[in-house]
Amino acid sequence: MVPMNLLRTFDGAAEYVVTGSWGGRAYREASKEGAARVAWTNEAERFVRTPRAEELLESLASDAAYVHVTTNETIQGVEYAGHPATPESATLVADASSDFLSRPMDVSRYGVVYAGAQKNAGPAGVTIVLVRDDLLARAPADLPTMMDFRTYVASQSVYNTPPVFAIYVLSLVTRWLLDDVGGLDAMLMRNRRKAETLYDVLDEVPGFYRGHASPESRSLMNVTFRLPSEELEATFVAEASQGGMVELRGHRSVGGVRASIYNAMPVEGVRALAAFMREFRDRHA
Ligand SMILES: Cc1ncc(COP(=O)(O)O)c(C=O)c1O
Repeated sequence: MVPMNLLRTFDGAAEYVVTGSWGGRAYREASKEGAARVAWTNEAERFVRTPRAEELLESLASDAAYVHVTTNETIQGVEYAGHPATPESATLVADASSDFLSRPMDVSRYGVVYAGAQKNAGPAGVTIVLVRDDLLARAPADLPTMMDFRTYVASQSVYNTPPVFAIYVLSLVTRWLLDDVGGLDAMLMRNRRKAETLYDVLDEVPGFYRGHASPESRSLMNVTFRLPSEELEATFVAEASQGGMVELRGHRSVGGVRASIYNAMPVEGVRALAAFMREFRDRHA
């Protein structure tokens, strides 16, 4: 929908900063729709980091339709530490599916933010889309109704039957964030503490666990790492599962282990995993 609404009527190309699997998919979809270009990627290094500010500025054309980023690459566990350093003049579009509501976000910096709810915000079935008002004028007149951002604006998001249960749960989550957690600054502190608990285990004895992401791009949401062999990785995942810690197998496209520690994962869960990781290492190193 982003290239349909923002690219069709625009002369310049859409630029994609591809820092992992989801950015790559977004780029390939956009290419079906119009002129799209990979402005920066480190696919050759297997997506271990986000671009540095100067790399990003050097790689972007000034007449781009928009610049698309993935704020957190869920599969690789690579996240921008702050806002991507794109020029003020660029229309920044973000797939924030896997870190939306995990930390504060200055939405005024973005032209479009979209996020599937199912990581931090609520159940699958609802997608949050923020579109800057002036960008609505870019949509071509002949877009299919359901693909046109203006449809959702004009109908206040109830053009068609909404998934009311998913939206209701999302409202409970936002109230929990405000009233119980204390807002997104507090959520960020909690998420940092959780992630550090696991990254500390990776760093304290180099060589056994090897983190996938470069330290400056480490995700607070998805902690990805390898063990010395695929066999040990399988044993690790199986034993963790017996201990009640499930779904730790890395995405099939990258292998290894991935601990997804979204908002709903309590600090205690992360501490239990860290203790298991230390104990497993002591037995197998
Ligand atoms: C960053 C990111 N973008 C997009 C998606 C795709 O979401 P959906 O399965 O709801 O299309 C995911 C799902 O894991 C994701 O993590």
